[in-house]
Amino acid sequence: MTSPDLPAELKAALDGKLRGFSRSDAAGRAASISKTYRGGGNSGAIRSETDALAYALARMPATYAAVTASLNALVEIRPDFAPNSLLDVGAGPGTATWAAAEAFPSLQRFTLLDSNDALRTLALDLIADGFRLRDASYQRGEARAALVNAETADLVVASYMIGEIGDAEQRALAELMWQKTRDTLLVIEPGTPAGYARIIALRAQLIALGAHVAAPCPHDGPCPLLPPDWCHFTQRLQRSRAHKQVKGAELPFEDEKFSYVALTHAPVDQRLSRVLAQPIVTKVEVTAKLCTPEGLSLTKVPRRAKADYANARRWRWGDAVN
Ligand SMILES: C[S@@+](CC[C@H](N)C(=O)[O-])C[C@H]1O[C@@H](n2cnc3c(N)ncnc32)[C@H](O)[C@@H]1O
Repeated sequence: MTSPDLPAELKAALDGKLRGFSRSDAAGRAASISKTYRGGGNSGAIRSETDALAYALARMPATYAAVTASLNALVEIRPDFAPNSLLDVGAGPGTATWAAAEAFPSLQRFTLLDSNDALRTLALDLIADGFRLRDASYQRGEARAALVNAETADLVVASYMIGEIGDAEQRALAELMWQKTRDTLLVIEPGTPAGYARIIALRAQLIALGAHVAAPCPHDGPCPLLPPDWCHFTQRLQRSRAHKQVKGAELPFEDEKFSYVALTHAPVDQRLSRVLAQPIVTKVEVTAKLCTPEGLSLTKVPRRAKADYANARRWRWGDAVN
């Protein structure tokens, strides 16, 4: 399992960029970028080097944690997956590339793609110090246009990206990303009903084109959850002092909610049930909401079933279980 916290190399590179940078200025810029996002805007609000750094300081640890959690889920289902090449679509500061490099030592070729110059410049600065990523290629441009000429990759990732474009563009992008995927496509979005809706639409679109779900779903059928419920997960990560200052936060950790789907060309062998909420453990039983290959189930594991109960007590929201 890869740690959800930023790798030391990336932390050091970010810290280096932060030296001499006013924390209150960063806090102001990060707050204004967040406000733009909440108002339905996108990362077009990130225009300067300082905006990019403020964004990275405020959001990169959390999006990194969400990508890592999704990659860990994928690795658990497909322990033999050893991709050689990565394509990071809407790469921004390079978050998913760093996460994938940590999760897959097999990765040799890294291609990042984004339209935002400030984020691209920051990503290249951060990568310059990163030994494994030093030969990464970062292509500038609008994703759909750039993808047409992009080489295929074993693993294609779009992290917190598709929500920045319109519905029709998302459909076109999804199809293009799938065409460029040699093995697995991973798409991650914020764990909101709207983020989930985008994931579920992309999932249905690509299953219709022959894709199979590796995670989180243990089936390729329609999602059994009905509104107002939605499929999402949460990843806890440590907050650095700088991060607390920028976010005006007190707690030493934050919980990032995310939705994701990992789609593969070949069907996966393992169809483990997915824990969809933190199970309730009492002295009598463990009650867990599971997505199973047969559909949704509120499973109760009684204490008298000693070994099963002991096992179920360890279940966590997001786990794949038997
Ligand atoms: C919220 S940021 C996420 C960045 C990064 N993937 C992460 O997880 O931290 C969204 C990124 O998508 C990029 N983006 C949005 N629309 C794009 C498009 N049409 N073509 C290329 N990049 C795009 C933005 O420039 C930005 O870097």
